[in-house]
Amino acid sequence: MRFIKDLQEGEFVISYSQVRSKEIRLKRNGDPYLRLVFSDSTGRIEGKMWENIEGCQKEIHEGDFVKYQGAVQIYNGSKELIVQQIRRTISQDCGNGFNLRDLIACTEHDIEEMWRRLRSLVLEHTTRPCILQLLNNVLDGNEEQIKSYPAGVEIHHNYWGGFLEHGLSVLESALFFADKYPDLDKDLLIAGAILHDIGKLEELSRPYSPSYTARGQLIGHVVLGCNLLRSEAARIPEFPANLLLLLEHLILSHQGQLEWGSPKRPKIPEALILHYIDDLDAKMNRFSLVLKEDREDSDFTQFDRYLGRAIFKGDYENSRDYPLVASPSE
Ligand SMILES: [Fe+2]
Ligand SMILES: [Fe+2]
Repeated sequence: MRFIKDLQEGEFVISYSQVRSKEIRLKRNGDPYLRLVFSDSTGRIEGKMWENIEGCQKEIHEGDFVKYQGAVQIYNGSKELIVQQIRRTISQDCGNGFNLRDLIACTEHDIEEMWRRLRSLVLEHTTRPCILQLLNNVLDGNEEQIKSYPAGVEIHHNYWGGFLEHGLSVLESALFFADKYPDLDKDLLIAGAILHDIGKLEELSRPYSPSYTARGQLIGHVVLGCNLLRSEAARIPEFPANLLLLLEHLILSHQGQLEWGSPKRPKIPEALILHYIDDLDAKMNRFSLVLKEDREDSDFTQFDRYLGRAIFKGDYENSRDYPLVASPSE
């Protein structure tokens, strides 16, 4: 396995990758060629296939794991692959250098450890039996998906285990704020942390290289999550109607703003806190993703359209252009 981040200009390479996108484009003479984007756990690289594209066009689809052969060249300052041969991986590749975990980005945390911590925090801090039962039912019924799904296609926690990492992080923040503001209803905060994005398990197609399902595009995770909550609450005898109403509100308002996909803005303090800790966790993760992928040779990363800014990554101690402390002679 040759990782994308290690590829060098002029190198001839045979390796495995995942196809993130594939499109037909036209050469200057009008003939078609394929533009592909490859990825592995270390990054992405654009590829072009100039010749014999018919087989690839039919056989290879977005999200497929492939074995390819090609050459690395520099184009417009970036590395790219000129692909000569490509095929989908087959079972024999497994003993031959192909390992799924090399190809998909994965949380840096131990998934089983995060899962155990999430379960024990819920058990330890939830006081109402009906809410504890609701959360346990949802967690038990979706364990495999919760452990593997990303929290999104692109914007934040967009890797294997990202959904769990994000949920646990929001839960820890929820418990912090429940202590800081003791008047808050801790059960609601805990339930909000666990359930707010649960609709993403239906919104996204699969744990690796996910795309939006039809239900995800037509309904979205906010309403899908609310529907799941209603059906789970209906399984619990005499689940209090007022609690269900507030839990519905937590899910429906967690995006915070109408233009960010919430049909209602937060109207109870627990919903307000949930929105901010969710947004903060997503943005902190986005900051680290942007910094990790950055290749700019300057004090700032490239402009990130989700954050709406470039991030400063220069020296925190010594500013290049503005001395922060006047020298003694001044
Ligand atoms: Fe969300
Ligand atoms: Fe979230």
